[in-house]
Amino acid sequence: MNRTPLRRIGVLTGGGDCPGLNAVIRVVTKAAILKLGIDVLGIEEGFLGLIEDRVRPLRYDDVSNILTAGGTILGTNNRANPASFVTGYGADGTPIRADVTDRVLATVERHAIDLLVCVGGDGTMSAANGIIRRGVPCVGVPKTIDNDLMHCELTFGFTTAVQTASECLDKIRTTGASHHRIMVVELMGRNAGWLTLHAGLASGADVILIPEIPYDLDSVCDFCIRRAEAGRRFTLIAVSEGARPRGGQQVVDRIIVESPEPIRLGGIAQKLAADIETRIRRETRATILGHVQRGGAPVAFDRVLATLLGHKAIQMAALGEWNQVAVWRQGRTDMAPIAAVADQQRLVELDDPLIAVARALGACLGD
Ligand code: F6P
Repeated sequence: MNRTPLRRIGVLTGGGDCPGLNAVIRVVTKAAILKLGIDVLGIEEGFLGLIEDRVRPLRYDDVSNILTAGGTILGTNNRANPASFVTGYGADGTPIRADVTDRVLATVERHAIDLLVCVGGDGTMSAANGIIRRGVPCVGVPKTIDNDLMHCELTFGFTTAVQTASECLDKIRTTGASHHRIMVVELMGRNAGWLTLHAGLASGADVILIPEIPYDLDSVCDFCIRRAEAGRRFTLIAVSEGARPRGGQQVVDRIIVESPEPIRLGGIAQKLAADIETRIRRETRATILGHVQRGGAPVAFDRVLATLLGHKAIQMAALGEWNQVAVWRQGRTDMAPIAAVADQQRLVELDDPLIAVARALGACLGD
């Protein structure tokens, strides 16, 4: 198939949603129509829409008035990797998997799609990488509230999630302070502590526990006691869903067998609160912020970042810089190979300046 010049592109949003996806869909569609004069097709629910042939035209008017809206007008899905797609279940409930990449290729051919703009995290980039290997050009736009994409210093959606989480921490602070309680608040982020570290610093959390630093329960309890002895009877603890005690395990909320990444973390806040209460007999309450962190309108910064990265992706598409993902590096847009981003996680380094500043402020990091 001759794909130059581009005549028609598809856009999909995959993985967990995050604020700013609509801003990308908007700029990709508008710039493709206005600057390149080409057609845009919207793929519903990420790669699932390619597997099931759910594709619709996106016209200029379809993407008007969506800049500020949370979620994604295309829908998304974090269970559909064509290379290992669940097509049914055995008698014992075991999922039956098949490589359905041919169905994806058939949809691409049927709609004469020359290139796919894949907006997603490492899982979506992994799926994109699979179809790149079968000859379908892609450009990627990275998104995640976890901010854990390799080669990308900042993903859109993250700043909004930090803002939301920080507002929640602020509210927990006032009720916790009134009751002189220890308040444990669990934040998302999978195996990366970025969200907890940023929101914890933004809200002045007293204890910040992230997956990259397994915590020592004695250290956390001693810290709470020392605060109480100093007259600070209230302690705010921000803990990542992926945090774990030293020598212990992460707390798994559920296993989603259909998902390429089946483990869903969650519940460390209750465990930690119970452990603290048992150990030092001070009233301790747990709150899990959950999906509220992914919802709502993007903050202005994320609208701009999403728009810049979506525009960069269209520029890359037009210039033939394919199979790359648009990234944010050193204060400007750049690109990295999709293969280098797929199935990777960018974790917090222990020498990160945010760790140093948290320590300088006297926060307990659990070690
Ligand atoms: O990757 C984004 C994220 O919100 C993670 O922080 C969290 O662990 C996961 O997705 C939750 O996934 P789900 O929406 O399937 O529960």
